[in-house]
Amino acid sequence: MEHQYEKSDLRVQSLAELSGAQLAALASLQVARDQEELGGTFEASVNEWQAADADQILGLAFYLGPNPVGIVLLKRFALSPSWVPDEAISLHGLKIGKEFQGRGLGRKAFGLAIDAAKAHWPSAKQLILAVDAGNEPALAVYQGAGMRDSGPVYKGRIGYEHRLEMEL
Ligand SMILES: CC(C)(COP(=O)(O)OP(=O)(O)OC[C@H]1O[C@@H](n2cnc3c(N)ncnc32)[C@H](O)[C@@H]1OP(=O)(O)O)[C@@H](O)C(=O)NCCC(=O)NCCS
Repeated sequence: MEHQYEKSDLRVQSLAELSGAQLAALASLQVARDQEELGGTFEASVNEWQAADADQILGLAFYLGPNPVGIVLLKRFALSPSWVPDEAISLHGLKIGKEFQGRGLGRKAFGLAIDAAKAHWPSAKQLILAVDAGNEPALAVYQGAGMRDSGPVYKGRIGYEHRLEMEL
């Protein structure tokens, strides 16, 4: 499938700025069925963002031109897992739609998410996330951007997971 836009055209937008129709279009994107277990669905991420305390969550959508291609949620304080310190931001469910994967958009989106998180919460000191040990594309994105294990792999929700961190 040909797409009109290159990865350099990827842009980020806060979910808070999207219309209902734009949120619905984002929620309709899909990952592969086996990836739903790892990063959840687009619909679940949009619903989680809508239900959360706006002070503690930043939802981001990634666009190629007019088309949504990805999403990520960033959380702080009570919304973050208990093992995330208060000075940190946790990142959850980075997803690129299945027909857009494998062309560098995940890496680009992660970079845009770091910049947006720093701008939104300038006092935060670290970015922290958990990723399943077998999720090679996600590990490639996070470790390639400089994230490092904060300790040993943990027995997580569905198997072993890395907890990765980076200074902001
Ligand atoms: C993780 C995800 C966002 C990456 O998006 P993407 O646009 O495909 O990523 P990129 O094209 O930027 O590729 C990132 C790296 O993964 C590598 N990669 C892609 N598929 C891979 C695979 N099946 N096995 C190993 N590495 C793979 C790519 O080669 C690339 O590394 P490189 O630049 O060194 O070649 C995407 O796979 C996704 O949405 N997964 C489902 C949700 C998920 O698991 N999210 C993570 C939750 S923590």
